[in-house]
Amino acid sequence: MKRNDVTLLVGGNGKTGRRVAERLQQRGLPFRIGSRSGEPSFYWEDRETWLPCLKGITQAYVTYYPDVCVPGALDNLQSFFGRAVNAGVRKLVFLSGRGEAEAEQAEELLKSSGADWTILRCSFFSQNFSENFFLDPILAGELALPVGPVGEPFVDADDIADVAVAALTDDRHSGQLYELTGPRLLSFAEAIEEIGLATGRNIRYLTIAPEAYRNELIEAHVPDDVIELLLHLFRTVLDGRNEMTTDGVQRALGVRPRAFEDYVQRTAAGGVWGRG
Ligand SMILES: NC(=O)c1ccc[n+]([C@@H]2O[C@H](COP(=O)([O-])OP(=O)(O)OC[C@H]3O[C@@H](n4cnc5c(N)ncnc54)[C@H](OP(=O)(O)O)[C@@H]3O)[C@@H](O)[C@H]2O)c1
Repeated sequence: MKRNDVTLLVGGNGKTGRRVAERLQQRGLPFRIGSRSGEPSFYWEDRETWLPCLKGITQAYVTYYPDVCVPGALDNLQSFFGRAVNAGVRKLVFLSGRGEAEAEQAEELLKSSGADWTILRCSFFSQNFSENFFLDPILAGELALPVGPVGEPFVDADDIADVAVAALTDDRHSGQLYELTGPRLLSFAEAIEEIGLATGRNIRYLTIAPEAYRNELIEAHVPDDVIELLLHLFRTVLDGRNEMTTDGVQRALGVRPRAFEDYVQRTAAGGVWGRG
């Protein structure tokens, strides 16, 4: 990568994209945000918006929204990878998910795109507890999910961003699939307990039946397709298949992954969960 090569960050103000943008900015490397609020705007559901965003781009960090398992996602990704390569993109770094058949199909599409590629196959992000759909229940004092005592190696979005920037800036990461996890398994109950300890708040974790969870989401006016997506994700990626840590962060960066406890301390100090 040359210093004035411009990177497109698809989902560049999301949980990982925003952190990649911060790192590129710190290094004085130019980038463009590819999202609905970007300039020009990028909509996954409107292919006409893709080419203007790809103009002059030599590499891209690609996150799909809302998830690679939604209808049309694989078709969109295949088309996007193809158009990117035709537009002159030489390197694609793709955010994938662990234990999802569709994510693995998306990875295969990436590998056959003709671009140099790096895959970041990630476990559940720690930041889901503070920047995503778990935040409101935590603020209300109770997180209830259709997930039992399964262990999940929550990965820190800062580690994902570090690996993404390494992959974008150093060709040695081309052709690599990094499975990125945190350093240890925690159940959701244990994760909530850590947050309760750090904030001094009484927060409960409850395992509920999928139907009860569906009813709660309906009452909260969550759209039907989002409800189906959440139930699908909890049913598949949290059924025990991902109950192991990996050495992906160490292999990519030569450092240990950030601990969940460190994420909790940092985040609690920022005040997003109240008290502290
Ligand atoms: N969260 C996890 O734990 C996790 C774990 C493994 C893999 N993943 C994968 O990560 C990807 C991102 O998920 P996330 O929940 O973490 O989201 P996210 O990256 O935090 O945020 C979504 C990003 O997408 C943009 N966006 C939203 N709707 C869009 C649309 N219709 N067209 C174009 N851009 C749009 C948003 O910006 P604007 O609002 O400006 O459009 C924002 O930049 C998914 O493919 C997911 O499977 C997530």
